[in-house]
Amino acid sequence: MAQEEGERLPQVLARVEAAHGITDLTQNLHFYDRWAPDYDQDVTVLQYRAPRLAVDCLTQALPALAPDALILDVACGTGLVASELQARGFLRLHGVDGSPEMLKQAQARGLYQSLSLCTLGQELLPNSEGTFDAVLIVGALSDGQVPCRAIPELLRVTKPAGDKEQMSGSHEVRRMAEQKDQEVPADVRTGAESQEVVWCV
Ligand SMILES: C[S@@+](CC[C@H](N)C(=O)[O-])C[C@H]1O[C@@H](n2cnc3c(N)ncnc32)[C@H](O)[C@@H]1O
Repeated sequence: MAQEEGERLPQVLARVEAAHGITDLTQNLHFYDRWAPDYDQDVTVLQYRAPRLAVDCLTQALPALAPDALILDVACGTGLVASELQARGFLRLHGVDGSPEMLKQAQARGLYQSLSLCTLGQELLPNSEGTFDAVLIVGALSDGQVPCRAIPELLRVTKPAGDKEQMSGSHEVRRMAEQKDQEVPADVRTGAESQEVVWCV
């Protein structure tokens, strides 16, 4: 098995490089449509750990987050983040992604209470203001995928922190946007600190 994975590595790396080379969002989503059936197997070869690390961060940052917390997984792909969340006892999971074929794979996992097709950066999320206790985006905040200008929309559907401990990924988002020479949305500059959590990896 390990040898098989080793043999597949160059092919998988080429696929990832191709994905990184696509800057057009529509083309990128088509690319993910085609990748969907093999995605989980391929990222296993890469020992992809971002979903686990993101959920580690979430539970460390918000230890009081209850098992019945309503969590939105943005750019959920095939549902690897949901698997990690479910393993930590979180069951009220909702997902959104711009690729219909990735969503089919996520649906087959059977871990989400709802899944929606939505292209962030072009469309608004189908949720009301302040719906979710936590919103995660893992492996998708980048050029040609979910642009930084979509972050205010993630903040919109996140519950305000009130007087609870405030924790947000806003500093991280700012750093990433600046590194990528993307414009930092005004809400991130000014308002993100008042939201419960938007976690970006
Ligand atoms: C590298 S995968 C990450 C999937 C999952 N979060 C994970 O960590 O395994 C990136 C995902 O982002 C989705 N995506 C890219 N750009 C998007 C956009 N603008 N709106 C919604 N989904 C997008 C792709 O369809 C794909 O499922």
